[in-house]
Amino acid sequence: MATAAPALSKQVPVPDHVPPEAVFDFDMRSDPGLLADPHKRMSELLEVAPRVFWTPRNNGHWVVAGYEELFRAFRESETFSSTFMPPEMLDAMVALMPEGQPRIPMVTPITLDPPEHGKYRAPLQKTFSPKAAMARMAEIRELTESLIDKVIDQGHCDFISAIAEPLPVTVFLRMMGLPVERLPEFRVLVHELLTSGEEDRMGAARLMRRIADSMLEAILARKDDPQDDIISLLWQAEIEGEPMTLDLMEDYAVLLFIAGLDTVINAMGFAVRHLASDPKLQDRLRADPALIPDAVEELLRRYSFVSPRRRVIKDTELGGQKLKENDFILLLIPSADLDEREFAMPQDFNLERENKVHMAFGGGCHRCLGSHLARIELQVLYERLLERFPRWRLDPDKPATFRSGSIIAIDSLPIRWD
Ligand code: HEM
Repeated sequence: MATAAPALSKQVPVPDHVPPEAVFDFDMRSDPGLLADPHKRMSELLEVAPRVFWTPRNNGHWVVAGYEELFRAFRESETFSSTFMPPEMLDAMVALMPEGQPRIPMVTPITLDPPEHGKYRAPLQKTFSPKAAMARMAEIRELTESLIDKVIDQGHCDFISAIAEPLPVTVFLRMMGLPVERLPEFRVLVHELLTSGEEDRMGAARLMRRIADSMLEAILARKDDPQDDIISLLWQAEIEGEPMTLDLMEDYAVLLFIAGLDTVINAMGFAVRHLASDPKLQDRLRADPALIPDAVEELLRRYSFVSPRRRVIKDTELGGQKLKENDFILLLIPSADLDEREFAMPQDFNLERENKVHMAFGGGCHRCLGSHLARIELQVLYERLLERFPRWRLDPDKPATFRSGSIIAIDSLPIRWD
């Protein structure tokens, strides 16, 4: 579902510690180049902006665009924190909430730092292990086949609404134990959250509450009547010997909801768009499906789409810039994975590339927990598409549409085949 491009956010004054040469005007949510052709713009940024720059948009923040700089930021959580405000400010905000106001869910553990983070990540590890992901393979294949069956004879489709959306989202909702028929409603909520502006923190908080409320019935139902799903498994988990609480269940559910509902779709969309414009690559993978796992990785690198945030918690230097405590930074993975200092000829799709260490799934302690599941979904999809579809191409009359923010999303991808 395409949304209108948001207006550029207003600019804030440049703080004293930011020198003029470090300033570059870039609006992650509504940069026109990003919305026209996201990864082209990401490459361009590396040429026209410093590797670490400060933008006056979206409340003013640093943007880390280079691979090496990003790598360090991911690993140094004692300097680059995942908490979005100092604990005392968070306490003060909570204290200001009117009595009886419903609580705002946190997205645990993605907004925590070590050692706290490890304690709350542990219950999720087992649920998202490689073994648990492999166990879903047959179901993913069956679902992929049934979605292909629906469109194969019509010669064209919008790949996003026909396959890239229903496939991973259905898998995720089934895994969670959430009703699949509510998929459209859930997707609207996650879109609203991911496109909500920096300026409206309370609006985002209210949305998080709505997201938690949308799952509350399922969460409560599983407490005393466990099924074979993640919500039931999490109820049985203990945090360092303490039983699970409803608040924490909400926090986990909201994080998984956001992480599960708008990620794999985009990986699929960008990859199928690339394949549509490279028929020789389609032929090569069709002739030799053993190359598909490497293709999955190279497509993830070429079209990374997540940009996490961090808060500087002690003054530091990064990429030659002086960052101060409480500065915010955006880790631009899509540009880092196109950094020519790290990847030779980064724009090329190259299955023989020596360096395959992309950062699409992040790095350091918050590295993506859903990566095993995502990789299996991507492999199965490419394998089935290449076997069932003849060469597909982009629809010349209907260009793809994109959305931008902390996730670069592809909202529609009309394709055709004979
Ligand atoms: C191709 C698809 C995906 C990509 C590219 C991706 C990317 C990422 C990235 C970059 C992070 C790190 C965020 C940070 O450092 O702040 C992350 C974290 C996370 N992802 Fe994914 N993700 C994908 C799919 C999924 C799926 C399907 C799930 C689960 C259903 C998932 C669950 C998580 C969780 C729980 C975290 C937080 C881990 C932590 O804080 O310890 N992801 N993901």
